[in-house]
Amino acid sequence: MLESKKIWVDGHLVNYDEAKIHVLTHGLHYGTGVFEGIRSYNTNNGPAIFRLDDHIRRLFNSAKAYFMDFAYNKDELIQSSINTVKANNLDECYIRIIAFYGYGKLGVNPLPNKVSIVISVLNWSEHIKKENREEGINTMVSPWMKVDVRSMPTHAKGVANYANSALARIEALKSGADEAIMINSNGFVVEASAENIFFVKNGEIYTPPISTGALEGITRDTVIEITKQNNILLNIENISRDELYYFEEAFLTGTASEIVPIGKIDHRVIGDGKIGPVTQKIQNCYGQIVRGKIENNRSWLTFIK
Ligand SMILES: Cc1ncc(COP(=O)(O)O)c(C=O)c1O
Repeated sequence: MLESKKIWVDGHLVNYDEAKIHVLTHGLHYGTGVFEGIRSYNTNNGPAIFRLDDHIRRLFNSAKAYFMDFAYNKDELIQSSINTVKANNLDECYIRIIAFYGYGKLGVNPLPNKVSIVISVLNWSEHIKKENREEGINTMVSPWMKVDVRSMPTHAKGVANYANSALARIEALKSGADEAIMINSNGFVVEASAENIFFVKNGEIYTPPISTGALEGITRDTVIEITKQNNILLNIENISRDELYYFEEAFLTGTASEIVPIGKIDHRVIGDGKIGPVTQKIQNCYGQIVRGKIENNRSWLTFIK
């Protein structure tokens, strides 16, 4: 990971090496944190953050599940995110905002502890290999079930949910796959370890509903908008595990990974194993939208300068 210059910690921009927390931080011991991953892209009008308002709104919704009170309102966190990008002088970057219960009382109850917020800006954009954007990645169904909606608030982008994701990702990597597909306790497809999932059959798009336990992804929402703009029929419906192998195309969506075609699921080739025409169309549209090339969607951009 390339070091950046400054990190915003509870209202102050501090040097990268000075952004430290106490080892008895509640969030570290019990996973009592929520976070956001956001991206800034280069556009013809300089760097712009994609759907910043929506990410901040989701952060506040995640915090609600954990009874976290922030010392900053939405506008202040939007402005602080912009300031952090500016302070690091990075055009294309990944912005990570985390809010967590801090140091104080170490019992399970987090409420006596102060909530800290940290905004970091990373020169880290490709967590799924570039060549796989055309080739299609190799996926497998996770042996770990998706954390149940009755066990954890899956609407929240909560740190603790990612122990489930990390276990699934490790299992996939150790088995020679790139990514894991999560199934819920009802046997329905949910998403991947850190991306939403879409499928294509007969020119129509399919994606699981949020009620399966999937995160309400902002890239997912952008793809839904792209399907509307391009008159592609979209079906939001339950997909059972055994239906997985029979789609003509499949792809993942996420802020960090963007639109990633799936080439294989459990060793079965999907389509011809490469990016299909519908996925290609969506990938192209997405690339244009985030870089401000589609006039109708420019309101999703927060320009830095
Ligand atoms: C579990 C999970 N699902 C879906 C997504 C995609 O969400 P977004 O498009 O808002 O980045 C993420 C992103 O990190 C994720 O971690």
